Amino acid sequence: MNQKKSVLCVGCTVIDFVTIVGSYPKEDTDRRCLDGFWQRGGNASNVSTTLRVLGTKVDFFGILSSSDAFRVLLEDLRRRGIGTRNCPLTSRDPPFSSVILSQDTGSRTIIHCNKDYPQTTWEDFIKIDLSYYGWVHFEARNTTHTAKMMQSIREYDRKTGQRTFISLDFETRYDQNLELCHPCDYVIFSKELATDKGWTTPQQTCQELAADISGNGSKKPIIICPWGSDGAVCLDSSGNFHKCSSYQPEKVVDTLGAGDSFVAGFIKATFEDQRCLREAVDYANRIASRKIEGFGYDHINSLSIT
Ligand code: FRU
Repeated sequence: MNQKKSVLCVGCTVIDFVTIVGSYPKEDTDRRCLDGFWQRGGNASNVSTTLRVLGTKVDFFGILSSSDAFRVLLEDLRRRGIGTRNCPLTSRDPPFSSVILSQDTGSRTIIHCNKDYPQTTWEDFIKIDLSYYGWVHFEARNTTHTAKMMQSIREYDRKTGQRTFISLDFETRYDQNLELCHPCDYVIFSKELATDKGWTTPQQTCQELAADISGNGSKKPIIICPWGSDGAVCLDSSGNFHKCSSYQPEKVVDTLGAGDSFVAGFIKATFEDQRCLREAVDYANRIASRKIEGFGYDHINSLSIT
């Protein structure tokens, strides 16, 4: 793998308004919170942040905005050295999420407001010079355009002899987004979506997803299914399962973005540090656990790969 190349994270960036409460509020009551803050959020955006905190070169590809509300997000991307050279611009207000962190249970409740914010298109994507990137990470959304973006990467690789790794964060709209798994090297599948599907274990999730992906004839992606405190299970391309236990955080402070940090840890360990699947998932578990021990993402940097 080429360590000089960057990672490209494709998706959304949003404002997360985070409210910290002792316990989850009862509906229609008037309460005070313990504290609160806001930060740049969004799945691919958080993956970029954690990768950067871990010292990996990363660019973000999503729609940026010239609106006043977005200025702080731009400033944060710039301050962290997350590249945005390919991002199209709109004047629309950014999407936002209202997040409640409940201290007694450690839960994070997210209410997302998309505001019909535009998404990047394949036409935007083909302007990117893919020679910069050795790994492209996608959110499972905007299916038609995302599928074409993935196809463009595969065509680019065929023409140039480059090997670009593609990963997918699969969290929503199973039937619609299933086709996005085919061109991928790695699919990270969410526990929440698995539960919605009625799948009760990470093993079952890997198995059911693998069965649904098959039939296309091409090489199957590696499936990774993080299952919170139960650890993660992955299914490799030879059909073998691997179980990797989670790490118990010393304290549960902030679970928002733990899944995104897991993804970043996995990408860093696989791409930059060239770890095998098991070791990379183990590192991802450590990163997710570390993330939970503090607010935001900056404190993760104290965790180096061993
Ligand atoms: C966490 C997160 C938040 C964002 C929400 C979007 O995984 O990316 O930062 O508000 O999910 O669905």
